[in-house]
Amino acid sequence: MENNIVALLEKVNNEILASESTSHINEVRIKYIGRTGLLTNMLKELKNLPSQERPTVGKFLNEARITIENLISNKLAELIVYEQKKKEESELLDISLSLPSFKRGVLHPLSIVKSEIIDIFTGLGFSIEDGPEIELSKYNFELLNIPTDHPSRAFCDSFYISDNILLRTQTSGIQARVMEKTVPPIKIICPGKVYRPDDDATHSPMFQQIEGLYVDKNVSLADLKHILELFAKKFFTESTKVRFRPSYFPFTEPSVEVDLSCAICGGAGCSLCKGTGWLELLGAGVVNPIVLDNCGISSSIYNGYAFGIGIERATMVKYGIPDMRILFDGDVRYIDQFR
Ligand code: PHE
Repeated sequence: MENNIVALLEKVNNEILASESTSHINEVRIKYIGRTGLLTNMLKELKNLPSQERPTVGKFLNEARITIENLISNKLAELIVYEQKKKEESELLDISLSLPSFKRGVLHPLSIVKSEIIDIFTGLGFSIEDGPEIELSKYNFELLNIPTDHPSRAFCDSFYISDNILLRTQTSGIQARVMEKTVPPIKIICPGKVYRPDDDATHSPMFQQIEGLYVDKNVSLADLKHILELFAKKFFTESTKVRFRPSYFPFTEPSVEVDLSCAICGGAGCSLCKGTGWLELLGAGVVNPIVLDNCGISSSIYNGYAFGIGIERATMVKYGIPDMRILFDGDVRYIDQFR
């Protein structure tokens, strides 16, 4: 019996050593120590042995069983690692394979300029305010001191939805809304789309503005010039100069048109500035006291300045774009140049 067990152990050992897969090692386990395995059966037959032989043979069989179990679990652990490694190797990606080419999108120049302007003014302490594109004429005109007979109120100059509701023609309506519900100081910029029925190389029925408003005590035209100079230097170059020309807006008094020295020729005159050395960029002024009072802010205590920048205009000036319509064409070949 003991010789049989030794022979069996040797056979098992050889089979385990020769095993190359976890499934084969499982077969070996079933064959020898499974419920009807060869060694298990020998253990079951112990009871038929003469009682004086039973303890030694039993001990021998049990030791053989433990040896087999250990051999199997060691080999199994080895094979699991080996199989996992082989699996990983077969799954390796071939990263040398070239992918089908794809084109990464770029930001539209209007988006670039809009976020640049927003960044500059938020960096100067202005916060962003939003308002409705479909606006009441009260906010678009009345509170802003635009009288009923003002040319921009004529039906042909605005997209009306009803007698007193229209697509806003300027983002100044947001300023009126903010002034109505806020106690100064107010320091805001209002970016957004506006609508006017113009359509040519320098006008579009929809365009975007960023208007700024600062209301506090003792605000002057000098503060306006200072903030616009800071803006111009950041938007163009450190040497950019700002020029004020007298103008007229019903909501500011005095009103100015603001020109920046041409970033291309530095003021000497070129095709971008049409030989003048200056680029017209925005409208601005000291907030008309009537507007402050209309919006519930006492003009005897507070004053302020306001400015309005056209984003399309700023983009054209910055990049020397002669025709606004190209910005709305959606021609990817053109937009791609701003990569
Ligand atoms: N709202 C004016 C426009 O649309 C611009 C502007 C804003 C002018 C604020 C002065 C002050 O043309």
